[in-house]
Amino acid sequence: LFAGSCDFFYGAQQIGQLPDPGAPEVAFAGRSNVGKSSLINALTGRKSLARASSEPGRTKQLNFFDLAGRLVLVDMPGYGFAKAAKAVKEDWQGMMFDYLRGRPNLRRVILLLDARVETKASDREVMELFDKAAINFQVVLTKCDNVKPKAEEARYREVVAEVSRHPAAHPLILPTSSQTGRGMPELRAELAAFALP
Ligand code: GTP
Ligand code: MG
Repeated sequence: LFAGSCDFFYGAQQIGQLPDPGAPEVAFAGRSNVGKSSLINALTGRKSLARASSEPGRTKQLNFFDLAGRLVLVDMPGYGFAKAAKAVKEDWQGMMFDYLRGRPNLRRVILLLDARVETKASDREVMELFDKAAINFQVVLTKCDNVKPKAEEARYREVVAEVSRHPAAHPLILPTSSQTGRGMPELRAELAAFALP
């Protein structure tokens, strides 16, 4: 699945512009700069399929990537980006939530949390929203190459405790690094389960 073709096929700036629902979708959500676009690149083995940047607020639309016609990965704008204008933030977030709530072929949301930073209020709000809307989500810890093993272990335990309070959460939390490729085989296996044969 991940070795086959992988193409950007759609960018939606407004909820009215979403592509018609087709193959099963998995969406990537998380705070600005947490590493969503980088994770999509690492998963698919492409350097710059999704545009990543050290500047938060890089991804400004819902970007749809087709994997061999069998699965669609959706790169979303980040939330919790303090510097963006309020109106812009509300637009992005409104679109993100409308998409998440209304998408019949959405199978799972991968929620990215930074291994180096504590869970923020905005992350908790998003998890509560997933619970309320009964949207299955799975947490991935990002940037694990950048944290010492002890600190990672503490962060991991904190996230396990957090996730156990959310009925919509998948219990398996995956430590990853888009730089070293850690966790990619495991995450690919999780996602492959949703793909069309
Ligand atoms: P927005 O589109 O703004 O919401 O950000 P994003 O979540 O898509 O983050 P992006 O993938 O653009 O990455 C943000 C920054 O984090 C970039 O400078 C990346 O190089 C860096 N980064 C992403 N993943 C990793 C990782 O696994 N390890 C390290 N060390 N840095 C990473
Ligand atoms: Mg991005």
